[in-house]
Amino acid sequence: MDKFTFHNPTKLIFGKGQLEQLKNEIPKYGRRVLLVYGGGSIKRTGLYDQVRGILDGLHAEVSELSGVEPNPRLTTVKRGIDIVATKDIQFLLAVGGGSVIDCTKAIAVGARFDGDPWDLVTRKKPVHDALPFGVVLTLAATGSEMNPNSVITNWDTHEKYGWNSPYSYPAFSILDPTFTFSVPKNQTIYGMVDMMAHVFEHYFHPTPHTPLQDRLCESILKTVIETAPKLVNDLHNYDLRETILYCGTMALNGMVSMGFNGDWASHNIEHAVSAVYDIPHGGGLAILFPNWMKHNLDVNVGRFKQMAVRVFDVDPKGKSDRDAALEGIEALRRFWTSIGAPSRLADYDIDDSKLDLIADRAMARGEFGQFKKLNKEDTLAILRASL
Ligand code: NZQ
Ligand code: ZN
Repeated sequence: MDKFTFHNPTKLIFGKGQLEQLKNEIPKYGRRVLLVYGGGSIKRTGLYDQVRGILDGLHAEVSELSGVEPNPRLTTVKRGIDIVATKDIQFLLAVGGGSVIDCTKAIAVGARFDGDPWDLVTRKKPVHDALPFGVVLTLAATGSEMNPNSVITNWDTHEKYGWNSPYSYPAFSILDPTFTFSVPKNQTIYGMVDMMAHVFEHYFHPTPHTPLQDRLCESILKTVIETAPKLVNDLHNYDLRETILYCGTMALNGMVSMGFNGDWASHNIEHAVSAVYDIPHGGGLAILFPNWMKHNLDVNVGRFKQMAVRVFDVDPKGKSDRDAALEGIEALRRFWTSIGAPSRLADYDIDDSKLDLIADRAMARGEFGQFKKLNKEDTLAILRASL
């Protein structure tokens, strides 16, 4: 293990009926609230009316930023920062999935920064401060509800980057599984792929001796593998939604990744693909991650074998480590395909015409990945294998 300091200040409020807790939380931060949401799902489900009812009951002065895109854009972040300035907003409330939360994080830090918020996203300038913000989560996927990360797209330049700071943890996050009942099947699948991918990003790290972390990661993977096939056929099942919602948060809130630095190369490549083609994040990961695994198999074949045996129940008897490891990667591919995830870039009509641009975008911050540093040639090889 490497030495570490762990501090996660987000208050997690989980379970049916917990929206009521807004009444206790909001008054701590001020009356002038900016409500941030996406393209309208919360209006269709009635959650918008519930939240507005509570805010009105608190006599909050509510402004709104609606229409946050999946893969949220810099232009929307700037719109939010303008509202904060003109309405003297004291608190931001994100109601939605990862995109709404990530956009809210960028508004929160951008509102306390004298300059172009893109400089914070690209890490040209450090984050020193942020407005407080809270979350009502509607989609199990990113873990953004309990981490400091945010991913923002500049659609003018086709760049999409992740950033984080000690100031961009939500003050609180309310997670009611019933708010995820309405998530359509495809988004439910993407979300489950994404949380598994977060665990894989942790799992493939170069630090020796992390036995508990390995087991914690494996337990999340096994739980998603057990639950996902049932959930895709039973989208309104409370127990299944509850399990997946908790898995998504635990997969990327720092609890299972203390004492090492995860890889994150597959995420970097996926962000580059969706910066150019605007595809769903989880869909991109389902295509890319098994190919990243095959590309890096020989870096530490024992680690891939461990995953194959412990997570996918591959019987290693009579097999070389390499063959057992490859069987595990195939089992992962088969599993994702079985629940309805895409497996090729062609599934999104992506051909080889822009692979070079994607690889350049992935290389924007230089070589990347902790398990193995990847260069442009590695990136192109993984992309070509994904066509
Ligand atoms: O916009 P609305 O109308 O709300 O619809 C959304 C959107 O179309 C819909 N949706 C959300 N909750 C719903 C619902 N539809 C019906 N019922 C509900 N309850 O789902 C669609 C996708 O939403 P989005 O927020 O984009 O999905 P997700 O949570 O997967 O977030 C994806 C974004 O997060 C970034 C991704 O790159 C991408 O930009 N990531 C953020 C991370 C983080 N902050 O830690 C880590 C991840 O690795 C990821 O990169
Ligand atoms: Zn992700």
